[in-house]
Amino acid sequence: MPIQVKRLLMVFGLFIAIMAVLIYFLTPESWGEFGHYRGLALKEIADKEVKHVDVNETCAMCHDSISATFASGEHKSINCQNCHNVGYKHVEDPTKENIVKPEVTRDFCLRCHAKNPARPENYIKQVDAIEHNKDKVCINCHNPHKPWE
Ligand code: HEC
Ligand code: HEC
Ligand code: HEC
Ligand code: HEC
Repeated sequence: MPIQVKRLLMVFGLFIAIMAVLIYFLTPESWGEFGHYRGLALKEIADKEVKHVDVNETCAMCHDSISATFASGEHKSINCQNCHNVGYKHVEDPTKENIVKPEVTRDFCLRCHAKNPARPENYIKQVDAIEHNKDKVCINCHNPHKPWE
């Protein structure tokens, strides 16, 4: 066998040996339990704390008048937490520090309502970000909890 082939085989053998050692030490314990997947990942995900709360069981109990207004308005298909961020901390300890009261800039509303060809036009109504009542804050005219009130 020519010497260069022997050398190549040695390098190859070494490579396989290193890979075998790495696979032995680095394969997670529960790998393969459900196919090509780390079985314990399922448990880790299931054990995570739930951060989005059920608004009907929580927000509505303490903010009943806002929730009632909200439920009769055009925003009822979205969730309080779309605008106020996750509520789990505030529900346990209802202080101002634990919930977001959004700063109502035009951009805040335009992130959902700005004209954008990639959005289905007849689902979320879109306005021209610059021309629609130029320079005025949206909540001067639209109540965030009931836009047509
Ligand atoms: C256990 C009763 C309770 C629950 C449940 C609750 N809140 Fe509150 N919330 C309060 C109280 C009390 C305040 C006033 C806190 C203060 O003035 O420090 C408040 C204040 C707020 C404010 C105003 C914050 C500010 O900076 O002025 C927002 C927004 C709010 N809540 C949203 C929510 C949302 C959204 C939910 C559901 C995820 C929710 N709340 C659930 C009692 C509650
Ligand atoms: C489309 C976004 C949006 C959604 C959805 C929304 N809010 Fe708000 N909310 C706002 C904005 C914006 C303000 C601040 C209004 C202001 O500064 O005058 C606010 C203010 C509040 C406040 C403080 C009121 C005050 O007088 O300080 C409470 C409480 C509140 N929201 C509760 C809720 C609850 C409960 C829900 C769900 C039922 C909800 N919000 C859904 C945008 C939203
Ligand atoms: C998280 C996305 C989201 C945010 C943020 C949001 N909206 Fe909406 N808005 C919606 C959806 C969804 C609807 C219901 C579909 C529709 O009619 O456009 C809606 C409906 C409306 C409508 C009624 C349109 C119609 O005639 O049917 C108005 C007006 C409106 N929003 C204004 C606002 C204003 C003002 C703000 C800021 C305070 C705001 N929205 C923030 C998603 C959003
Ligand atoms: C000066 C008052 C005023 C201000 C400020 C204002 N709007 Fe309006 N908005 C209206 C009126 C009136 C209509 C209905 C007539 C029209 O479509 O122009 C409307 C319509 C809408 C519609 C429904 C469009 C449709 O196709 O049916 C949406 C969504 C909307 N506005 C969102 C916003 C957002 C987001 C802002 C802030 C960037 C805003 N508005 C600022 C008065 C206002």
